[in-house]
Amino acid sequence: MADFDGKVALVTGGGSGIGRATAIAFAREGASVVIGNRNSSAGEAVVKAIQDDGGKASFLRTDVSLQDDVKALVEHAVATYGRLDVAFNNAGIGGAAGPLADQSADNYDEVMGTNVKGVWLSMKYEIREMLKTGGGAIVNNSSVGGLLGFAGVGIYSASKHAVMGLTKSAALEYSAHGVRVNAVNPAVIRTPMAEGLAKMRKIKPDDFSAVHPIGRIGEPEEVADVVLWLCSDKASFVTGTATCVDGGFTIQ
Ligand SMILES: NC(=O)c1ccc[n+]([C@@H]2O[C@H](COP(=O)([O-])OP(=O)(O)OC[C@H]3O[C@@H](n4cnc5c(N)ncnc54)[C@H](O)[C@@H]3O)[C@@H](O)[C@H]2O)c1
Repeated sequence: MADFDGKVALVTGGGSGIGRATAIAFAREGASVVIGNRNSSAGEAVVKAIQDDGGKASFLRTDVSLQDDVKALVEHAVATYGRLDVAFNNAGIGGAAGPLADQSADNYDEVMGTNVKGVWLSMKYEIREMLKTGGGAIVNNSSVGGLLGFAGVGIYSASKHAVMGLTKSAALEYSAHGVRVNAVNPAVIRTPMAEGLAKMRKIKPDDFSAVHPIGRIGEPEEVADVVLWLCSDKASFVTGTATCVDGGFTIQ
């Protein structure tokens, strides 16, 4: 029997990169997967890939920074598959790069809206559903930028620190009620977001290899494996943690 047989998993930002890999991994392990993504064609393509592989998946266009969208996404999960057991709050954006004093208020609002408000709204509606069925597990996608400062992406780093605050506080409030809440903290992972970061610096994603003691960048599937473990019963005594998936980046 697969780890997630009969379970319902929600993935925000499941149309690309780490979210895409995690949605596919949940489906392969038996879960019915609900994908919320701002970009419809990308989200629908992942649903098709899962269905072609024999899995169960459904998509609803969602902007996680909008309360009504997030509420509708969780309602869609319950209406389609009857319950919600696990969630990966992954949708995130990098925003504009550059020194803090040069950043615009619009960029601040956009990054905080998706990366922080989006994670809070997602947990708000997911937790309400999970409490109805006796519990569940949530993983929020932070970053090594949620643990360390990063020159040139200060607003992004602040948003990912806020994800850690939300994760720890939710774990304190809901772990005793059966909802475990953890974070993953990836370093550079081979996704369109990392490609964008590399392009801005006029380098290739693999040029980031040297900053990781392990000697390479990460693959989205390597983050997905950790998310699935954190959402599984094998992690039954794990809550409120920052889980580095970073090739040793943060031990330097
Ligand atoms: N790639 C990395 O190196 C890396 C490292 C650390 C953390 N992360 C985090 O991982 C998460 C996923 O990043 P990725 O690298 O897979 O990026 P990606 O750009 O490949 O995927 C992000 C997905 O989120 C969706 N999205 C963006 N804003 C949204 C919104 N407001 N509502 C709904 N969907 C939205 C996009 O459409 C896209 O499908 C992000 O939170 C990111 O900060 C990535």
